[in-house]
Amino acid sequence: MKACSRTAYGEADVLTVGDVKRPTPAADQVLVQVRAASNDRGVWHTMTGRPYAMRPFIGLRAPKVAVIGRAFAGVVTEVGSAVTKFRPGDEVFGTTNAGTWAEYTVAKEKLVAPLPENVSAEQAATLGCSGVSALIAVRDVGKVRPEQRVLVIGAGGGVGSFAVQIAKSLGATVTGVCSTSKVDLVRSLGADEVIDYTREEVDRHRGWYDVIVDIAGNRPLSMLKRALQPTGTIVLVGGEESQGLLLHGFQRMIFAPAYGVVARRRMRNVIVQENATDLAEMGRMVAAGEVTPAIVHSYALADAPDAMRYLAEGHPAGKIVITI
Ligand SMILES: NC(=O)c1ccc[n+]([C@@H]2O[C@H](COP(=O)([O-])OP(=O)(O)OC[C@H]3O[C@@H](n4cnc5c(N)ncnc54)[C@H](OP(=O)(O)O)[C@@H]3O)[C@@H](O)[C@H]2O)c1
Repeated sequence: MKACSRTAYGEADVLTVGDVKRPTPAADQVLVQVRAASNDRGVWHTMTGRPYAMRPFIGLRAPKVAVIGRAFAGVVTEVGSAVTKFRPGDEVFGTTNAGTWAEYTVAKEKLVAPLPENVSAEQAATLGCSGVSALIAVRDVGKVRPEQRVLVIGAGGGVGSFAVQIAKSLGATVTGVCSTSKVDLVRSLGADEVIDYTREEVDRHRGWYDVIVDIAGNRPLSMLKRALQPTGTIVLVGGEESQGLLLHGFQRMIFAPAYGVVARRRMRNVIVQENATDLAEMGRMVAAGEVTPAIVHSYALADAPDAMRYLAEGHPAGKIVITI
């Protein structure tokens, strides 16, 4: 089959599109003919092998899995002997560590959901990683309720574009934080207010927000604390630091719970574990029009390395999709 893969860690130039062996499903897996896949920061991490702290899990010197990509949508063509929920011909979407920028992938049944009728494969391919991460951050960890004031930092990115919409659908008043070029996008996602961080900082309102969902920027925890109500919750999803080769900025998440105890503020880390229930809920929200994936760019598989260059070069708005 055709796939975008690599044999060594590095930037997008390590990626090639060519023939690789088609995977076969294990007992608990389905084989899926991929129609669309998506790109996200997590894919970039597995491509570069950075932060180094990931390497014991993904391959110390070279990647254990050659094909890249995680979230996908497509059609089941074969099922493992223990699979009970799907059969060949079913349209599905989900997530897998087996690589999805390819004509076929395999995924565990528990990480796959049925594709709702009025949701496209491109839309569904964005839900597996970014959509579910935003859902868990906003609904489960932030426990956002109607009329709360919610701040989303990184609102124009892959996770953030979903987080803004999910918080709105839960009835919150949402402020999105992004750079100038994304202000219109973040407003179009439904944000009530947008902070352009090149002009103003997130603590311009002191003690204001009930929930701060921090997806990007790596701001000091003390700055987030200033913007939070004393009874509020800070939800840490991500935040990159290009110089931090070992942890890439994720040390902030490691120290946050201890800082929260000292600062007497609720600080919660998000460790996303995708699952079929949350995938199905994201599918339902898109089908119901509560959430619309913000797809900024779609690439053919032959041009998949450019999809990674686009992500790595700067600040893409919303989601990047690869169609197969
Ligand atoms: N905890 C978990 O399980 C989990 C799950 C998924 C993702 N993540 C992490 O979440 C982070 C974001 O992922 P993503 O896929 O959404 O990445 P993404 O699509 O690249 O989006 C990141 C966004 O952050 C914005 N940004 C950059 N610097 C900023 C700053 N100083 N202030 C505010 N916004 C800033 C970027 O654009 P602008 O600067 O132009 O606004 C961009 O929109 C990554 O660190 C990823 O590893 C963690």
